[in-house]
Amino acid sequence: MTVRDVLRAAIEYLERKGVDSPRVDAELLLAHALGLSRIQLYTEHDRPLTEVERAAARALVERRGRREPLAYVLGEWGFRRLTLATDARALVPRPETEVVVERCLELLKRLEAPRVVDVGTGSGAIALALAQERPDARVWATDSSGDALSLARANAARLGLAVEMRNGDLLAGLEGPFDLVVSNPPYVLAAELDELQPELLAEPRAALVDQGQTESLARAARDVLDGWLVVEVHERRARTVAASAEALGYTEVTISADLAGSERVVEARWQKATSNRR
Ligand SMILES: C[S@@+](CC[C@H](N)C(=O)[O-])C[C@H]1O[C@@H](n2cnc3c(N)ncnc32)[C@H](O)[C@@H]1O
Repeated sequence: MTVRDVLRAAIEYLERKGVDSPRVDAELLLAHALGLSRIQLYTEHDRPLTEVERAAARALVERRGRREPLAYVLGEWGFRRLTLATDARALVPRPETEVVVERCLELLKRLEAPRVVDVGTGSGAIALALAQERPDARVWATDSSGDALSLARANAARLGLAVEMRNGDLLAGLEGPFDLVVSNPPYVLAAELDELQPELLAEPRAALVDQGQTESLARAARDVLDGWLVVEVHERRARTVAASAEALGYTEVTISADLAGSERVVEARWQKATSNRR
């Protein structure tokens, strides 16, 4: 069988399995298995595959057919300028979270050597992107999942980025003041789980299901902040989170949209000296 034959068979197989983007996924998986670029799949379409190559490609395509997230099957995923290792220990970093990082960079623009903490770091995506794009920042990251934190640590090591990782609840054990507390907390309601694609259900439950972390974090962050709280939110709950931040005494509360135009990021200011804690 040639590259073209195997690619065609993989696309048809993924289509039958209900995968959303069978062609792109098949191309990425085959390219990964063969150590080729996607373009080379077409420039080398007549090349016959060895038995070993076919077995490697088949194993990856079958995993995807079982609706394992593409990022887990590939074992790595792009996030801003980074390529992060990805597996079932943590959520796959999403494009909307890149907008969260964008907002953080904007808010930190005029600060030198800012102190930043990413709560619920998962693969380390936000913390590592901030460490890379603001090399003068001192960055901490926490996660209550030891598995997620082990992946974040591995990503930090492989990228050579310095982030201080802590295993624990929200901001436990961290001493402020921080210029920025950022988080993409779990925000899927338990009642919404049935509507989710099988791929999402393969991600850790603790990374998905809302257990009130956004509200708890907004409360706790007041003890360590002298700056900005930035949180990613469910698109239908941005206004609720913004109103709750105001009720907690935060000022300059604003909502930003993600690349799809959904209300996705809430940011709010807490100034130690002047804030009116409620
Ligand atoms: C939606 S995932 C976000 C992962 C990563 N920040 C990203 O954006 O790709 C939420 C993360 O928060 C962690 N988490 C959930 N509850 C937590 C808590 N109370 N304290 C610290 N981390 C928590 C989960 O283990 C998970 O890694």
